[in-house]
Amino acid sequence: DWTTGNVIEEQVAAIREQVGDRRAICGLSGGVDSAVAAALVQKAIGSQLTCVYVDHGLMRKGETEQVEKDFVAATGVQLKVVDAEERFLTALKGVSDPEEKRKIIGREFIRVFEQAQAEIIADEGPEVAFLVQGTLYPDVVESGGGTGTANIKSHHNVGGLPEDLEFQLIEPLRKLFKDEVRMVGQELGLPEEIVQRQPFPGPGLGIRIVGEVTKDRLDLLRDADAIAREELTAAGLDREIWQCPVVLLADVRSVGVQGDGRTYGHPIVLRPVSSEDAMTADWSRLPYDVLAKISTRITNEVRDVNRVVVDVTSKPPGTIEWE
Ligand code: XMP
Repeated sequence: DWTTGNVIEEQVAAIREQVGDRRAICGLSGGVDSAVAAALVQKAIGSQLTCVYVDHGLMRKGETEQVEKDFVAATGVQLKVVDAEERFLTALKGVSDPEEKRKIIGREFIRVFEQAQAEIIADEGPEVAFLVQGTLYPDVVESGGGTGTANIKSHHNVGGLPEDLEFQLIEPLRKLFKDEVRMVGQELGLPEEIVQRQPFPGPGLGIRIVGEVTKDRLDLLRDADAIAREELTAAGLDREIWQCPVVLLADVRSVGVQGDGRTYGHPIVLRPVSSEDAMTADWSRLPYDVLAKISTRITNEVRDVNRVVVDVTSKPPGTIEWE
């Protein structure tokens, strides 16, 4: 019989058997899958697990704190946070092309994560032999069902480590669909904000600024995004909407009139979509009063923004994200 209780019990036993008295590492992204995978492994092996969270400075308001405080409080997990904001911003300086941004963010992410892994191994010794991954059943099917090991090339020269680190994978969510993962997360006592989190791209707000990514623009977008999320939640729309990217058109300016003067500011785009699997999507028909509230608040409360527009394009032809 399928119950979350049975799934947890079965996985906990399997993980204990697999790991024995060795140790594991798990990367947290702020998303549901890695959080639930980490919580399951934590339940099985406790302090033999170390989680790593790379703060790339491209998260939305409050998300890093959610991992650092709420997730840790709920699970008691041992967490290593790497503050890499400056490194990412430096690497992204002057870059506007979306694919270029993705490449840079992906590359830096792997470097920072591997460095953290190497440090953990240097601290804790060679018994660190496992890497936890939040692979779901649909990912398994898509990739042909293989499982096994991850090869980490250690190009960081952290004292005394082998050139090539080989980890065995722990993938406790391999038999589960997304909704089942959420149920397991709930049963494990994870915060609602993490368990019910809508999809959010790995490159974060870096691909929601049309133009160069700067700290200033990120702060501005974070403020606008927080307002939109707050109002959508207050209106009870979170379950209806698949996700709602909020995009800053940093390279576009438009004239406005605010207070007692002319302004020359940036537009913010709201991109609410409904979807089953993100492959196709339709734009969400949000209630006008909710849109009005979001627009009024963003233009009043966020500096340099004097216009809010709604994206009414389906996918296809538009992608969900703007970049
Ligand atoms: P698009 O924009 O292609 O997005 O319609 C489909 C889904 O994927 C997410 N997305 C990404 N996720 N890295 C990710 O981890 C990315 O580079 C990326 N680009 C898009 C997007 O938020 C949507 O859920």
